[in-house]
Amino acid sequence: NCHWDNSRGSLIVLEGLDRSGKTSQSNSLVSFLKGKGVPVEAWHFPDRSTTVGGMISSYLANKSQLDDRTIHLLFSANRWEKSSLMETKLKSGVTLVVDRYSYSGVAFSAAKGLDIQWCKAPEEGLIAPDLVLYLDIPPEKAAERGGYGSERYEHLDFQQKVASHYTNLHDHTWKVIDACQPAEDIEKQLRELALECISSRRDGKPLSRLWL
Ligand code: TYD
Repeated sequence: NCHWDNSRGSLIVLEGLDRSGKTSQSNSLVSFLKGKGVPVEAWHFPDRSTTVGGMISSYLANKSQLDDRTIHLLFSANRWEKSSLMETKLKSGVTLVVDRYSYSGVAFSAAKGLDIQWCKAPEEGLIAPDLVLYLDIPPEKAAERGGYGSERYEHLDFQQKVASHYTNLHDHTWKVIDACQPAEDIEKQLRELALECISSRRDGKPLSRLWL
């Protein structure tokens, strides 16, 4: 628990299918890091609090119809509108634990049949994560957990397509965690990986941009 000052924060992203346990794991990780004295904030995309986020939210709830490319670009715009704040926070030493990011953007839209390169293009230039924690769960297992709501993408056949697209996005920043393990084991692995990432940022590694 030494000094976390004089270094930028880390950008840590959690990704996974719906019902993979991302949201509770990211909350637990943030409380743990706070307890260690790490300056940290929990973020989530889509950020439904903005005007663009409101459009996304209404689309997801099936209250509005948008064509596949339009909603894709809105998800991306929702990250861009937050990117300068994100950069300021990271540079001031705050670590951000972000529930979903550009990988969700690409995997979900590609699952609809859009071209992957087309999907990746508007994400280009966003801040690249230092660490992506992928909570890996077979789509059938996630569906068994129940609790799929009534949102647009919460169907097994669609989640299966998303899962296959996620696997093509893995790069050197990804750590794949078996999300079928007991929650405490997952928690422990995420904590170790996050702490390791945060301490290695102390050597002043500059921010990089997507796609690495
Ligand atoms: P999210 O708010 O994380 O879901 P939850 O209701 O479980 O909190 O995300 C809503 C849905 O949006 C989810 O099915 C994933 C999808 N999504 C995209 O299609 N593109 C994106 O860029 C993002 C961030 C999410």
